[in-house]
Amino acid sequence: MGAALTRTGRLRLLETAYDHGIHHFDTAPLYGQGLAESLLGSFARSRRDSLTITTKFGLLPRQRPALLRPLLPLARVINRRLLIPLRQRPPAAPRFSASLPALGATPGPAPSAGSRQTSSGDPGAGGPASPAVPYTAAMLRSQLERSLRELECDYIDYYLLHECHCEYLNSGVLDCLQELVQEGKIRHYGIGSGRWQSRRILEQHAAVPWVVQIPDGWADHDTDWFCRRSTPCLFTHSSLRLCLEGGAPSAEALCQRWAQLTDQDPSQPGLLSGLLLTMALERNPLGCVLFSSRHASHIRHNTQLLNLPPAHRQAARQLIQEANHSTTYQPG
Ligand SMILES: NC(=O)c1ccc[n+]([C@@H]2O[C@H](COP(=O)([O-])OP(=O)(O)OC[C@H]3O[C@@H](n4cnc5c(N)ncnc54)[C@H](OP(=O)(O)O)[C@@H]3O)[C@@H](O)[C@H]2O)c1
Repeated sequence: MGAALTRTGRLRLLETAYDHGIHHFDTAPLYGQGLAESLLGSFARSRRDSLTITTKFGLLPRQRPALLRPLLPLARVINRRLLIPLRQRPPAAPRFSASLPALGATPGPAPSAGSRQTSSGDPGAGGPASPAVPYTAAMLRSQLERSLRELECDYIDYYLLHECHCEYLNSGVLDCLQELVQEGKIRHYGIGSGRWQSRRILEQHAAVPWVVQIPDGWADHDTDWFCRRSTPCLFTHSSLRLCLEGGAPSAEALCQRWAQLTDQDPSQPGLLSGLLLTMALERNPLGCVLFSSRHASHIRHNTQLLNLPPAHRQAARQLIQEANHSTTYQPG
């Protein structure tokens, strides 16, 4: 969402992903200012049994004054045809994140009603409407019903508490999640937060069968801790974005090393994105690695990574080990 794409173009991208074997889709009421769920619902209508869907609870798009709502379709056309093309610049050369904060070194913000900071990369302060905290079972049920309507289905495979903090949880909400599973409205539930908050929740609610969704950068060294603690599974995301938008000098060095280990041409297009996603897949071998893209060619390229030769995957594992010893990647 947000790109210069029509509804038909967006649906076509979803079809490209599906046709190339991607059968899991991640959305949230917040995404696309509230439009993403209903778009996915239209796409999933005829395929519901052959795909799985994550959506989330907690962050909602800001409500616009009722008087302005009739103008929204016009505003979207102006945005797509005029503003987005104006903002578009030639793509910057990929840059590499020199140092990602170590877990524990960057404690999350103290939660307070009315102020919201997203720690996992979703739109931050100013974007989403702040939820009332702590959560209540009534809020959970009413937002779930809304998502079911938007997604045109009667169950959600993975229902995640979006940017949840430990302090938002209470026994009423945990019981309600369990009831929703028993009622068949959700199949699994979990958290979609930053790494630090997720770790606190997992430690304080160790008995809860959490699905966990976290950002996973190239130098995150404790993803296996989350793999072991996330039941039934771990979803990781933003492995590309954290590096491509991070701004760091070592991407070239990492690509050189990858090319050297795998006998590939270091200048071939798509090498860095391929490496980043392969490293993400190797760090989370039993779970699911999410990516987003507005380009069919990128979607095709990314799905082909699942068929890489074992030697390439072995080389990616070696680079993970090397990255774990240093947050600034140095070849060799
Ligand atoms: N709180 C949460 O639970 C949370 C937070 C953040 C994200 N998420 C989920 O995770 C998904 C992915 O996260 P994300 O979008 O932040 O990060 P991402 O998938 O790591 O990065 C997306 C960026 O990578 C680019 N890209 C994708 N494939 C590429 C390729 N082959 N070559 C070059 N560039 C490529 C995309 O550009 P193009 O469009 O040009 O391809 C886009 O700019 C989101 O859509 C969302 O569903 C969840």
